[in-house]
Amino acid sequence: MKFIFKHLIFAFIYIISLNLIHAGEGIWLPLLLKGMNEQEMQSLGMKMSAEDIYSVNKGSLKDAIAQFGGCTSEVISTQGLLLTNHHCGYGYIQNLSSVENNYLKDGFWAKNKAEEKYCAGLTAMFISRIEDLTTSVLQGVNSQMKESERRAIIEKNIQTILPTIKKQKHEDAFIRSFFNGNQYFAFITITYKDIRLVGTPPESIGKFGSDTDNWVWPRHTGDFSIFRIYAGADNLPADYSPTNKPFTPKHSLPINMTGVNDGDFTMVFGFPGRTNEYLNREGVRQIVEVQNPIRIALRDKTLKILDKHMRADVKTKIQYSAQYATIANAWKKWIGENQGIKFTKGLDKKQNQDVEFTKRVNSNPNFSMYKNILSQLDHHYKESENFNAAKDYYAETFQRNIQIYNFYSIVKKLITSNEKKGVKEFETLRNNYAIDIDGYYQDYQEKIEEEIFANLLQIFYEGCPKELIFPKLKTELSAINLDYFKYTNSLFQSSNFVNADKMKSFLKLEINEMKKALEDDQLWLFYEKMNEFIISDILEKSSQHDEAISDLRRVHMEALMNVFPERKFYPDANSTLRVTYGQVEGFSPKDGACYNSKTYLDGVIEKYIPGDYEFDVPKKLLELYNKKDYGRYAENGKIPLAFIASNHTTGGNSGSPAIDAYGNLIGLNFDRVWEGTMSDINYDRSICRNIMVDARYILFIVDKFAGAGHLIDEMKLVYPKKKKKK
Ligand code: ARG
Ligand code: GLU
Repeated sequence: MKFIFKHLIFAFIYIISLNLIHAGEGIWLPLLLKGMNEQEMQSLGMKMSAEDIYSVNKGSLKDAIAQFGGCTSEVISTQGLLLTNHHCGYGYIQNLSSVENNYLKDGFWAKNKAEEKYCAGLTAMFISRIEDLTTSVLQGVNSQMKESERRAIIEKNIQTILPTIKKQKHEDAFIRSFFNGNQYFAFITITYKDIRLVGTPPESIGKFGSDTDNWVWPRHTGDFSIFRIYAGADNLPADYSPTNKPFTPKHSLPINMTGVNDGDFTMVFGFPGRTNEYLNREGVRQIVEVQNPIRIALRDKTLKILDKHMRADVKTKIQYSAQYATIANAWKKWIGENQGIKFTKGLDKKQNQDVEFTKRVNSNPNFSMYKNILSQLDHHYKESENFNAAKDYYAETFQRNIQIYNFYSIVKKLITSNEKKGVKEFETLRNNYAIDIDGYYQDYQEKIEEEIFANLLQIFYEGCPKELIFPKLKTELSAINLDYFKYTNSLFQSSNFVNADKMKSFLKLEINEMKKALEDDQLWLFYEKMNEFIISDILEKSSQHDEAISDLRRVHMEALMNVFPERKFYPDANSTLRVTYGQVEGFSPKDGACYNSKTYLDGVIEKYIPGDYEFDVPKKLLELYNKKDYGRYAENGKIPLAFIASNHTTGGNSGSPAIDAYGNLIGLNFDRVWEGTMSDINYDRSICRNIMVDARYILFIVDKFAGAGHLIDEMKLVYPKKKKKK
């Protein structure tokens, strides 16, 4: 009887949990799919088993997935061909480019393997195995001890366990914390170091739409580039050598030539960076109401100034475009995040969850230790609010949006190297900087920086909590009636590092002369005093709250998992290998509007603005379109370009494969829709969509546009039977 009862309860819980699962939400650990997700994935149409996705016994999908810088990439041929986004390969393509061979502007296609170009510093990291080490890492901790004691024990355990993890000579291992320090997993990795550029479309395809279209659906960007992994004679990682051979992978992804339809299962397999899905209301409120507005306002101003100068002058445009893109990317994401939270009533949702949590905790004596958790969290969030605001104000005003801070940092490194390591070290470092100094200032203009500095200074001064503005600035600004421009000008005029010429003369000085010169360098003194203040009056004073919050968030996470046993929990993204899955579907971003799930090459032509830096189209592509020379890559007479689905992705998932029900590549993840970027703190199936380039657009560009059919010959193209349209 008891036995049956227990089973009934389990069945009941199982049914509730199925109802509570929102297909789409979740960033899952591949080794746990069998128990957590396989059934749901199959009910959404997946025809594979969990073992096909992640296996330690046989080649599985995971063996085709590699971390690629901060992005993801995947192997698409038995000869180690590696696919990722254009924006992920960007820096490497830029490094290989010159004025005569501008691969960013014109694209590049190696005609054979000998022409493939080695990318110094680029690596591809595969995961051999994942191990749950929670029990051994948590050995010796208990729920009575202080969090600081707990942390110390865990740290010690990790140090002991790490060297004992079984691995081959060519493998590495690291241990990461999951669920805010409640679980621990080890990752055993293999990292290949000889990666070569095989092909990239021109920016007018790979970055089509640029910043205007970034985060936006409908989208028409062919955001891909192709590399190849090379290995030693034993197929293991080797430093670059002309004798290295194309890598033979344990698995490579076949390519689906029949595409997707609404409702089709998709999964995205990759290395998502960071999410915060389990914050309570106050945690989310602080992001949305305090931090995002500060960051957005300061970047708004920066971007307006940059845009003005970039439009006025072509050279400026080239110099500042990478800087602009980086500043604009996060700026636009934060705006979308705030709008999405508002649209989906995210704060109310979090509030309801907090209320339900409190209700359950109060009604169950077993949960008495969790009684004060939310009020304690709220207390520390409130106490740290001004500190966090100030941190954002300082970072965005004086560090992230201007380049001058990099040059201050160079000077700082020189002075410190002398203090810490002596004059010999100082001289070596100084001479090294002197050699490349033109390179450092290549994409920089003093007047533009000064203008940004002065404008941001005003926003900073008017917005930053008064008691957290450093005294030197207050005194000096007040003395000149808050004339931000005059003040900034006096800093820049007196400085030794505001342009390449001044820096060159400065780098000729000996250490004592340098120190002497810095005594009158107002910009140097400004940054020195600012940094001292940030350390003593902001970081040190807020650290007690930051630590308390991090400890409380661990307990809160543990509490959530105990208090809501019917919910399925997935760990926040932490740059480790994960699976997310969902279905191809459009969405309605607002009343009366509805987006389809797919775009076509026709949309590129609609957006085409001849000569425009964002929306120009290469002549060859126009010709192919006009002749409808589509080869075998068309669908109903049109070239499919991009599609969206409800996969729960985030930054770091760029370059991740979109995989169909059978394990074939159907697309390449590269973005999310603006309306749904709040999925990092509050996923909502109604509007959260990831954006993928259709695999057939990639092949069409490689074959028809670039004439690199030999690459297609390496790949395995498959034609899974098309499901009947509903
Ligand atoms: N939004 C995408 C991501 O977060 C693409 C960024 C690169 N493209 C750009 N136009 N800035 O990384
Ligand atoms: N573009 C992002 C990346 O570089 C992916 C978009 C997102 O944040 O989801 O990882």
